[in-house]
Amino acid sequence: MKIPVAKSLRGDLRVPGDKSVSHRSVMLGAIANGTTEVRGFLKSADCLATINCFRSMGIKIEEIREDDLYTGETQSVLVIHGNGLHGLRKPETPLNAMNSGTTVRLLSGILAGQDFDSYITGDSSLKRRPMKRIMDPLTQMGCDITSENKNFCLPLSIHGGNLKPVHFTSNVASAQVKSCVLLAGLYADGPTTYLEPARSRNHTELMLSAFGGNIKTKVDPLTMYPGAIVYPGTNLRGQKITVPGDISSAAYFIAAALLVPKSEIHLLGVGINETRDGILRVAKAMGGSVTTSNVRMEGREPVADITVKSSKLKGTNIGGALIPLLIDELPIIAIMAACAEGDTAIYDAAELRVKESDRLGAIVENLRNMNVNVEETPDGMIIHGAGGKRQRAKRSPGRLGFFNGTTVDPLGDHRLAMAFSIAGLISDTQMTITNTDCVKISYPMFYHDLAMLTNSF
Ligand code: S3P
Repeated sequence: MKIPVAKSLRGDLRVPGDKSVSHRSVMLGAIANGTTEVRGFLKSADCLATINCFRSMGIKIEEIREDDLYTGETQSVLVIHGNGLHGLRKPETPLNAMNSGTTVRLLSGILAGQDFDSYITGDSSLKRRPMKRIMDPLTQMGCDITSENKNFCLPLSIHGGNLKPVHFTSNVASAQVKSCVLLAGLYADGPTTYLEPARSRNHTELMLSAFGGNIKTKVDPLTMYPGAIVYPGTNLRGQKITVPGDISSAAYFIAAALLVPKSEIHLLGVGINETRDGILRVAKAMGGSVTTSNVRMEGREPVADITVKSSKLKGTNIGGALIPLLIDELPIIAIMAACAEGDTAIYDAAELRVKESDRLGAIVENLRNMNVNVEETPDGMIIHGAGGKRQRAKRSPGRLGFFNGTTVDPLGDHRLAMAFSIAGLISDTQMTITNTDCVKISYPMFYHDLAMLTNSF
């Protein structure tokens, strides 16, 4: 796809539902008693993989349409007919998590507690991603979980049932690993504690508690590691859930409006959970005009409208406990950094090498192709922003540009495709993104919404 230059971004946008919350609503809905109604569910390829896995374990999941009493618009509601903690049926065929790390890692925690054997696989990208991080705690809990290969990757065979409680300290700040252990903890015969080096997103803790689960957050007094403790023995009850807009999807438009001159946009109903809001913190630290208004709670999740105006950005430092709060936003933050005045150092972000692609390697390679001055480090990069010494834009006479366009192969990684598409809005020469189909993983309507705000395409 050839990305046209954008003159400005203007208008209001409601970004699609949060991916992490959508996955969890299906999973908890399936193992709760009674029905769960989900409004604002993200209908993307990753979340459909989760739905399909639970359907193949006998859970009835349907989509109904209803008229919104306030707006008069028709909206879709996902209805999950839960079967209780022990109501899943042995799947007849292998479970397929497709491209979705959240599906495979969270689902494995639930499968560990079932008294049937299961086999779970995924696509070629997911088959390269590390699973030892969930196999270790589940094995400690007494689950027989094995990988078909020496690299501890998919496919996995899980022989579950009779779990022991654990006190597990993870060496990565990962909400997927945390959620896997906490969900398995629902099936253990005592309380399970999970600690992590920095606080990762807490949607599982919030939603489990809303479903009636007995879970408490904690900070370890010795290590100061944050974490949670889950007490088994309570049945979960179906809930009504409204999924907030996904801040990870909003991030592309936050960056676009900051970078494209004469822009002002309003992103409506975006989740601003404090374990996810790193993009807002960084945008502000870089000097961006980003303001939240109409802050409210939707269930247990805080939501706000976000106004973004074009701004001159400056470099910043991003590492430590901030990383888990913006882990999926680092590709688009790298684009912002390339346009900022001064250097941006990203460190403590080695996890990016084991996402849907090696995101550190791919970001650096593509930035270099765009003539951006960037140094790769084992756990991040240093980007020397062009903000101070901009060149005359060739595609857009009379304007100053930041970098050249190039052809980007997103390697099947949705976040790379979207981040470099935003770069294309302001590139001096033509930016082309190949194989953009991967945006369906988290944001099927991405190019539609981008066209709407830029009034182009
Ligand atoms: C997610 C956790 C994060 C994030 C992923 C979604 C989740 O992964 O990158 O997109 O829903 O729990 P890690 O747990 O591997 O950091």
